[in-house]
Amino acid sequence: MPVTVRVRAERASGEKRVAASPESVKKLVTAGAAVEIEAGAGEASLISDAAYRAAGAAIVPPGTAVASGVLLHVRPLTVDDVEALPSGAITVGMLDPFQNAAGVEAARDRGVTTFALDLLPRISRAQSMDVLSSQALLAGYRLVTLAADAFGRMFGMTMTAAGTLAPARVLVLGAGVAGLQAIATAKRLGGIVSANDVRAASADEVRSVGGTFIDLDLGTADAAGGYAKELAEDRARRQQELLAPHIAASDIVITTAAVPGRAAPRLVTAAMIAGMKPGSVLVDLAAETGGNIEGSVAGERRRVAVEGGAVTLIGARDIQSDLAPDASKLYAMNCANFTALLLKEGETVLDFDDELVAGSAITHDGRIVSERVAAALAPSTMVEESA
Ligand code: NAI
Repeated sequence: MPVTVRVRAERASGEKRVAASPESVKKLVTAGAAVEIEAGAGEASLISDAAYRAAGAAIVPPGTAVASGVLLHVRPLTVDDVEALPSGAITVGMLDPFQNAAGVEAARDRGVTTFALDLLPRISRAQSMDVLSSQALLAGYRLVTLAADAFGRMFGMTMTAAGTLAPARVLVLGAGVAGLQAIATAKRLGGIVSANDVRAASADEVRSVGGTFIDLDLGTADAAGGYAKELAEDRARRQQELLAPHIAASDIVITTAAVPGRAAPRLVTAAMIAGMKPGSVLVDLAAETGGNIEGSVAGERRRVAVEGGAVTLIGARDIQSDLAPDASKLYAMNCANFTALLLKEGETVLDFDDELVAGSAITHDGRIVSERVAAALAPSTMVEESA
């Protein structure tokens, strides 16, 4: 019997993505799996049940019990999601394990093996499975289109017989995958784009996509795995002070700064916003994780008074879902490429000697097998035990 790979219709409101595409179904079927997709799962991503069927999947009614095998998902699993799975099931998707203790502990207790693609080691071999990169890339593009929509002026310099329109000055803070895509997109629209980041490689990366790197002479802050380290309080304050004049001179400020496992660094304060020109726009990708910009609220677009008028402050939420067909297409192939690692001749074979399998496994055999996650969740477990 080939292993069953189930793809669910996402339950979270506002979530339009799906973890399978016709191309990913073909890949899974070629790897020996029988693919089952809940009816209508692809609708918001413009993928019909007929297209899935033509690629070799069976369509099942939503909520049909998962018999065994592998579940592919987009949103982190909740306790209810886990409790609907049989013991021994395998799940592949984003798990947000550091913020999702309840889901992780439920999976451990249920004997479900969970693979968190958001914790996959970001080595070269993982690139085709890297959901953080594929989704951040789309987020970076969307941040700019949100800003452009709220800006109400053109980005590019335009000369006409009736006069010249000045180009927009765009500042991008945090130049990882999303920030670099935001720089490239704003540049293509004709903006004058500058950026700041704290990793050593970021100056060259910013220049390679057409941005001007703002060197604050703060020193670099690199951590393992290509990520940034949190700045100590005095350096973080200094960074804000040094950024203030650049923010005041910008028409658009886009923030994407993040430090894994920490709240997002605060880069823009209310006082800095107060120094901006009326009509300016700020968009904060980190609004859901603490906010790079003071006062940003995920999913809200607010007017903030400044001298002579107001600026618009947008807190991003679910913005990959705004581009669901593209986001699903990339996410689905990320999932299929990873799942193919778990399949040998149609059976699941979990090779924990493989760095990618071991590095993304969170629960297995009734234990939390990720040391990082176990360590991070330990205090909450202790609190529960002593309660
Ligand atoms: P992320 O989402 O964790 O952070 C976004 C950006 O915020 C990073 O560039 C980080 O340096 C920056 N940041 C943190 N604190 C800051 C501060 N105080 N001020 C300004 N910027 C700040 O990172 P993301 O986008 O997931 O990727 C970061 C890096 O990971 C990449 O540039 C690359 O080196 C590595 N990577 C490797 C991949 C691979 O080899 N497969 C794939 C993707 C990324």
